[in-house]
Amino acid sequence: MDYLKIKGGQKLSGSISISGSKNAALPLIALSILSKKMVEILNLPDVVDIKTLIKLLSNLGANVDFKDPHSCFIDTNFINSTKATYDIVRKMRASILVLGPLLARFGHCEVSLPGGCAIGARPIDLHLSALEKMGADIKIKDGYVIASAKNGLVGANISFDKITVTGTENIIMAAALAKGKTTIINAAKEPEVVILCEILSKFGVKIEGIGTDELVIFGRDKELLEIDKIYVIPDRIEAGTYLCAGAITNSKITITKCEPKHLKAVIAKLEDMGFSFEIKGDKITILPAKQIKPIEIVTTEYPGFPTDMQAQFMAICCIASGVSVIDERLFENRFMHVSELLRMGADIKLNGHIATINGKNLEGTDVMATDLRASSALVLAALVANEVTKVHRIYHLDRGYENLEGKLSNLGAKIERLKEND
Ligand code: UD1
Repeated sequence: MDYLKIKGGQKLSGSISISGSKNAALPLIALSILSKKMVEILNLPDVVDIKTLIKLLSNLGANVDFKDPHSCFIDTNFINSTKATYDIVRKMRASILVLGPLLARFGHCEVSLPGGCAIGARPIDLHLSALEKMGADIKIKDGYVIASAKNGLVGANISFDKITVTGTENIIMAAALAKGKTTIINAAKEPEVVILCEILSKFGVKIEGIGTDELVIFGRDKELLEIDKIYVIPDRIEAGTYLCAGAITNSKITITKCEPKHLKAVIAKLEDMGFSFEIKGDKITILPAKQIKPIEIVTTEYPGFPTDMQAQFMAICCIASGVSVIDERLFENRFMHVSELLRMGADIKLNGHIATINGKNLEGTDVMATDLRASSALVLAALVANEVTKVHRIYHLDRGYENLEGKLSNLGAKIERLKEND
């Protein structure tokens, strides 16, 4: 198993480029199930979660051919099984994204229940009840969702009680091949949902309300799509994480190949902390603050402040000059990084979903990664801690950050990947 050894206290400088978005790429890979043509996907991030979903599709019989680590061809005409087994789904909850497309194309599928995960129970009840409303028969047996729609799915009016990103994506893909019109009320508006809709509409699925919380999808009654090429948008969470690396070290760095309009809430909060920005095309430069000020953050759905950036901002709050408050509204157990930051000397008090952070200096020590974004917060904290921090269990980071240590080294950080027992 690998760990990261980081020597804190280095200023960063220079520029790095942002990879394709993991959370956008996952539904786009699942979308290939709806295509009768071989799909080429470009700008894939080279991260473990992508490989996990590709493995799932290969296990179903799809032909996948990687041209290079960032682009592949997927031919789903060879699919001969519609069972997504536990051994893969347990590795990544987002595997549930194959449920809607498999059911829509083949009229039946079995997908293992994802189970619990580090950041809370994360149920899939909203995905299932929406598919039932579209005519699917759903049973839960031996830990599997067994779904069938022998005569195909039919359009329906769906109103989500909670905004769900992968739930919206699943239903959009199911609705694309359903018979008739599906309306999704209270749909997620994340850029990852928008790009999925844009690609579907480019390839012949009429969708109204793209980018709003009410989508109307006109289903093609089982007629498969002819998707040839898909380009994955830049990863706004990876981009935000590197802006936080610039912020926590109070350095001037530039990120390139990003989409500034997806980062408005993150940039606004960093401005509140005293940082300023130069934004030109797909480049963002963060400029140091005179003093890193404390802030208040409430996580919410897009375009609000993303829960996927909460841990990284908490790392900055740990060294800000004053008391910050972070209110985590989306997930009930997304403070796993707190106990590790406490080990680094942070002053954080937790009260339910609210964390109060009193800024002070951090100390290097051994810490353990617990989930994807929590792990990146520990790396950020280590960049400014006294002496050396070792971040263990970094397989969590490898799920979603491409070459994190390489990119941070390019910016001048003293960071190396080592094997446990080295
Ligand atoms: C996606 C993102 C994840 C991000 C999250 C919130 C991907 C692959 N993952 O996860 O990085 O942190 O959005 O922005 O895109 N809920 C239910 N029932 C359901 C579905 C969701 O109660 O059937 C609840 C969840 O427990 C949570 C909230 O709704 O409290 C939002 O979850 P959701 O948007 O579904 O998260 P994911 O799509 O899993």
